[in-house]
Amino acid sequence: LVPKVIYVHPDATREELDVDVGTSVMQAAIAHDIDGIVAECGGNMMCATCHVYVDSDYLAHTPEMKPEEDEMLEFTVCPRESNSRLSCQLVMNPGMDGIVVCLPDEQT
Ligand code: FES
Repeated sequence: LVPKVIYVHPDATREELDVDVGTSVMQAAIAHDIDGIVAECGGNMMCATCHVYVDSDYLAHTPEMKPEEDEMLEFTVCPRESNSRLSCQLVMNPGMDGIVVCLPDEQT
């Protein structure tokens, strides 16, 4: 089974991708030209332009936040919320199947 990710744009349109376990929510978005994820640093926790808001039902299944991610989330363009994550750190695992991530209004 390949887990699914649902990307929700600010205008509420949804795009769904099958994302292999071990691939990040950011990598899949870039590979499929999903607007709204920029990922300037290529996944190194140095840009915060891959910011997403994770539907709270799925937060418990996401990888634990590292201190570097926590620090970088202070530099997002749109406000940080309790469900904010860097999508480059959301590496898919089977428990994340169906995860809904909302894209912020802007990243840069
Ligand atoms: S891609 Fe730069 S912090 Fe995620």
